[in-house]
Amino acid sequence: MNASLSSARDHVRIGLLGCGHVGAALALLIVERRTAVARRQGLDLEITRIAVRNTAIDRGVPVDTDTFTTDAAAVVADPNVDVVVEVMGGIEPARELIMAALSAGKPVVTANKELLANCGAELYSLAADNGVDLLFEAAVAGAIPIMRPLRESLAGEPIRRVMGIVNGTTNFILSRMTEDGASYADALAEAQSLGYAERDPTADVEGYDAGAKLAIMATIAFGVRVVAGDVYHEGISGISVADIEFAADLKHCIKLLAVAEQTTGDDGELRVGVRVHPTLVPLDHPLASVNGSYNAVFVEGEAAGDLMLYGRGAGGRPTASAVLGDLIDAAANLRRGSAPVVGTLERALIAPIDDVTSAYYLNLEVDDRSGVLAAVAAVFGEHGVSIRSMEQEGLGSEARLVFITHDACERDVRSTLSELRSLEAVRAVGSVLRVISN
Ligand SMILES: NC(=O)c1ccc[n+]([C@@H]2O[C@H](COP(=O)([O-])OP(=O)(O)OC[C@H]3O[C@@H](n4cnc5c(N)ncnc54)[C@H](OP(=O)(O)O)[C@@H]3O)[C@@H](O)[C@H]2O)c1
Repeated sequence: MNASLSSARDHVRIGLLGCGHVGAALALLIVERRTAVARRQGLDLEITRIAVRNTAIDRGVPVDTDTFTTDAAAVVADPNVDVVVEVMGGIEPARELIMAALSAGKPVVTANKELLANCGAELYSLAADNGVDLLFEAAVAGAIPIMRPLRESLAGEPIRRVMGIVNGTTNFILSRMTEDGASYADALAEAQSLGYAERDPTADVEGYDAGAKLAIMATIAFGVRVVAGDVYHEGISGISVADIEFAADLKHCIKLLAVAEQTTGDDGELRVGVRVHPTLVPLDHPLASVNGSYNAVFVEGEAAGDLMLYGRGAGGRPTASAVLGDLIDAAANLRRGSAPVVGTLERALIAPIDDVTSAYYLNLEVDDRSGVLAAVAAVFGEHGVSIRSMEQEGLGSEARLVFITHDACERDVRSTLSELRSLEAVRAVGSVLRVISN
């Protein structure tokens, strides 16, 4: 059963689930943009119900106090709600509420990356079965329009790889370490004091937040079901200022990249590799110029070539802007009785991390004596890992060899490392990071 814009034909009554950073910014934006949206899109947007946990808090939004309720299910079921916007976050009760809205034929707009990265497929499928929109531009990279281009503009494009800087906290920390030589601990403390990082920064610095966004992007880019648990993670807490300086000497910077790529396995089946890890990015690559808390997504298409979208990845107002765009789309589709849907997706075959092919940066602490370089190079050769460039740094107890390899299979690099660790002349294997090429 499809809902429709019931009262006046183009009057869109919105049920808002959550009125925190994003919800309150959206409520303000809807009031600010109401006249312009009515003029340009012919839609009169109005928030008729808002669900929150605590109705006593003044949220500074220009709606009547009796618009607020703690009964979120009643907002979804209200016949005076045409479109549901979910900005409460978390899995439950958001999942059940969205399912109830879709089952009632009401379009849903959500910014909830955690929910979509874990339960997206069942929700996309329910939206398709009910012929209604489930739109989620704001769930990945805040204000940056990436979901609609992947879903619509690039629908006919065979996409090879999507790479994103999709976590502003880690990008801010790495930028501070790069630009000012700040230590990881100092840069993290500054991010916390500016409100960019949570008191417990694990989800950001260990790559889980970026991994959830990557699962959603990979699902839409490759048309198969990828969940957060499929994503391989390495965080940035082990990155030192020395790594950043060595990378700079090699004309690279270090970024936390979320990478999704499609490859063909030995059996001829398509596989999706999804990983989040610190990465050496050449200084002349467009992603190298994405600094501070900004985000960007870089798409490599077979026919379209390379594309990059850049902008604010978080913050109440930028995120609310993406939600408003979806809301206008959902309302316009409701008016014309159509809904572009993701549909039912098959489970992706996930490429194991051992099968990933990449160039690598390796940093070895070695004895400062003759014959060491030859012994180390021989180990690389035995495992079929070829060296693209090598730098010798420091003397005596500070002596290091810094390598960048040609593309090699992760499995071969791991066996190279394990043999290097057993060489007497290698005192320690420092950072090992993947490198992207132009
Ligand atoms: N903030 C960003 O920059 C950003 C960027 C991209 C995406 N997102 C996503 O947007 C969503 C919202 O984020 P946010 O930063 O706005 O969160 P937030 O500030 O914590 O706001 C959450 C809102 O939901 C309400 N709420 C939570 N559970 C509820 C329940 N069971 N019943 C009724 N109301 C409930 C809260 O009510 P009370 O206020 O009464 O507690 C609050 O108003 C999340 O999914 C987040 O991942 C956020």
